[in-house]
Amino acid sequence: LAPKYLRGKKLLITAGPTFEPIDPVRGITNHSSGKMGFAIARAAAEAGAEVTLVSGPVHLPTPRGVQRINVQSAQQMFDAVLPLAAQQHAFIASAAVADWRPALTHEHKMKKTEGGATAPTIAMTENPDILAAVARLPQAPYCVGFAAESEKLAEHADAKRRRKGIPLIVANLGPATFGRDDNALLLIDEQGQRELPRNDKLSLARELITELSQRL
Ligand code: C5P
Repeated sequence: LAPKYLRGKKLLITAGPTFEPIDPVRGITNHSSGKMGFAIARAAAEAGAEVTLVSGPVHLPTPRGVQRINVQSAQQMFDAVLPLAAQQHAFIASAAVADWRPALTHEHKMKKTEGGATAPTIAMTENPDILAAVARLPQAPYCVGFAAESEKLAEHADAKRRRKGIPLIVANLGPATFGRDDNALLLIDEQGQRELPRNDKLSLARELITELSQRL
């Protein structure tokens, strides 16, 4: 049985991709499976926390004891997270949120016009940064971000940590982890770095939760 490091603590977690609609049948998304975030939610619940999981569209069962809120777009994720954030002890942003969305969603399916007309251009607009917004709250919970970088991992991840104003960032030690059941992580905070060597995502999630409990 897991030690109840997080008894009495409230944790809010985001997971999975977002889906940004273009029209009623199309949209922009990414390959995030949600597995890391769901593993963290499970590990946190096992450690006795009261867990709310805000998830984009994924094919994963809800971990036992976890309250799940399903969303599609980044704006919906923002709208679900912000009203809950100030009541939490910690916020873990593991979702792969789209940075951009189509500026407008067509009400009806975009039709390919007969006779080979020109291809449409999709104008994009910026999505809100959920993690940075939570970190800016006067009653901000302890915020944990994730970073996937293709080069200068530690340096770029730490720069991201400072830019978003968060105490802890978790960098994915590549190669691409989308959909895989294992990963390797680098934890970076003001004190320095700690590597969590390659392991299955649930084991890594439990180690991350142990680290987090020492900081709450
Ligand atoms: O800036 P970047 O997308 O690389 O930052 C990644 C971190 O920020 C992740 O923790 C992700 O969940 C969070 N994020 C967010 N809202 C966004 C973009 C990223 O919460 N719009």
